[in-house]
Amino acid sequence: MSKKITIAIDGYSSTGKSTLAKQLAKELGYVYVDTGAMYRAVTYFAMQNGFISNDFFHKNELIVSLPNIKLHFEFNPELGFAEMYLNDVNVEKQIRTLEVSGFVSKIAEVSEVRAKLVEQQQAMGKDKGIVMDGRDIGTVVFPDAEVKIFMTASAETRAQRRFDELQAKGDNVTYEDVLKNVQERDYIDTHRADSPLVIADDAIEIDNSYLSKEEQFTAVLELIEEVIHS
Ligand code: DC
Repeated sequence: MSKKITIAIDGYSSTGKSTLAKQLAKELGYVYVDTGAMYRAVTYFAMQNGFISNDFFHKNELIVSLPNIKLHFEFNPELGFAEMYLNDVNVEKQIRTLEVSGFVSKIAEVSEVRAKLVEQQQAMGKDKGIVMDGRDIGTVVFPDAEVKIFMTASAETRAQRRFDELQAKGDNVTYEDVLKNVQERDYIDTHRADSPLVIADDAIEIDNSYLSKEEQFTAVLELIEEVIHS
């Protein structure tokens, strides 16, 4: 008998979590949720409203404005995945810039932001049949997830991947800037007081510095099939 389960994929930035999660969701016919996109959309909202810049962060103004932030995903059949909407506007492109990446860890440190997003994420996964990726999925959002994967790779490998992606999109960035951003985010993500990035006791760790996407996908799918049919 096969059953619907919850699959939590956590790990460092640019470890290919979303690529793997999307492939798994497609294969299993599950819903895929990119929780990083939600933190990025809140960051974009804070930037647009002048709550955050290189010089200041008006945290309390953001907290007061949280009820004005409506987030939802909409499946785009042409792309084969769901795109992020902020107050009914598609912000998929705007949330992927290095500028948003530079501020997002600060926004993700705010407990009120986390509480709002975690509540929404738990509601999205209440019927199982979901693949969710982020930093706290196996530890906070779905501590009872049947499958938990924790992905790592060296900071240099991840920066190179991210740099290649941004360059392909035409972003004018240097490898050094991207590496610095990856290292800064790693530090903040693992040291914040609320829900720091840690590996859940029952998660399976995958270091994919030297693994191809196909090898990784096959290994994880095998593991999931075992759980689904157990
Ligand atoms: O996965 P990503 O790089 O798009 O995530 C962007 C940022 O959001 C990341 O630096 C940490 C934060 N984040 C988080 O704190 N908790 C999550 N569940 C997902 C992302």
